[in-house]
Amino acid sequence: MNKNVLEVDDLRTSFFTDEGELQAVRGVTFHLERGRVLGLVGESGCGKSVTSYSVMRLIQEPGRIVGGQILLHTGDGRTLDTATLNEKSEELYEVRGGLVSMIFQEPMTALSPVHSIGNQICEAILLHQDVTQADAERLAVDMLGKVGIPGPEERLSQYPHELSGGMRQRVVIAMALVCKPELLIADEPTTALDVTIQAQVLRLIKELQAELGTSVLFITHDLGVIAQMADDVAVMYLGRIVEQGSVHAVLKAPLHPYTQALLRSLPGLSGTRERLASIEGTVPNLREIPPGCPFHPRCEAFKEGLCDTGAAPELEELAADHRVACVRAKEVNGL
Ligand SMILES: Nc1ncnc2c1ncn2[C@@H]1O[C@H](COP(=O)(O)OP(=O)(O)OP(=O)(O)O)[C@@H](O)[C@H]1O
Ligand code: SF4
Ligand SMILES: [Mg+2]
Repeated sequence: MNKNVLEVDDLRTSFFTDEGELQAVRGVTFHLERGRVLGLVGESGCGKSVTSYSVMRLIQEPGRIVGGQILLHTGDGRTLDTATLNEKSEELYEVRGGLVSMIFQEPMTALSPVHSIGNQICEAILLHQDVTQADAERLAVDMLGKVGIPGPEERLSQYPHELSGGMRQRVVIAMALVCKPELLIADEPTTALDVTIQAQVLRLIKELQAELGTSVLFITHDLGVIAQMADDVAVMYLGRIVEQGSVHAVLKAPLHPYTQALLRSLPGLSGTRERLASIEGTVPNLREIPPGCPFHPRCEAFKEGLCDTGAAPELEELAADHRVACVRAKEVNGL
């Protein structure tokens, strides 16, 4: 069995609009080791969702994957390139219907308002497992219990609107995990919930991940959540990964000025309780991607003639399990 469950290589995804091609993901490469949690982090609009939707091949018109590979290594020894699988192929159906599960930001996108919770979970089970209706109901009750829903038997007949937001997201997590996916993608799964519920749901995902050994691609804009949830991290900026490595290495000693700024703007981790200013400037839009290093208009370490010309810097291994895409990283960090 391949030790990686997912290998994304030079992924490029664009939207073809009236204004031309908008390159939302511009050459993204990462891998996710089986049984681990990889956090994908970055400010709004940096391409986290487009990357994860690309893995599931859920990019809608006018968007399209224009290059790269997305290799999914299954537990039974197959390798599927979801970037190029035929839209009507059985493999793509398999990928979307069980090999990979996704938890979205807003639980209602994953739930049908007109079917009971029980029906929806049982349908997911019956679609992928050869069990009877009674077995499916037992599995559903088990899973609802596991995700911390009180009185799971009674919940089966309830409808999504009868549950609170936090309970709904627990149902979605139960649905996503009940078929034992090889890969779980969680795209900001707690943003729609209030703060105390957020913490509970994050803990729950982490516990279930550890118990079931699920491989998870976890998306968030919050480095604090990365510290809590992930083993490895990839930091994105304007459709590219700018820093990558183990959470321990990257958060302890970030080497990219963008990651350093993200970390400074985080109240909890930087050791101060007051809210610090967010990073200077705003993310440029995709119509005006800066030449050279995409972060250069906002970077404190910017050097004219070096940072603002040529192609975007490539990731370079600067320490054990730690890669950075910044031409001045060594100099700035005294390496
Ligand atoms: N259908 C679309 N048409 C045109 N541009 C799009 C479309 N969907 C996404 N984009 C653009 O692609 C870029 C990446 O978007 P994406 O949704 O991946 O960001 P994100 O990192 O997930 O941000 P957030 O934290 O806000 O969810 C953005 O600039 C966005 O405007
Ligand atoms: S390449 Fe230059 S602009 Fe980009 S992060 Fe490094 S120092 Fe800053
Ligand atoms: Mg998103």
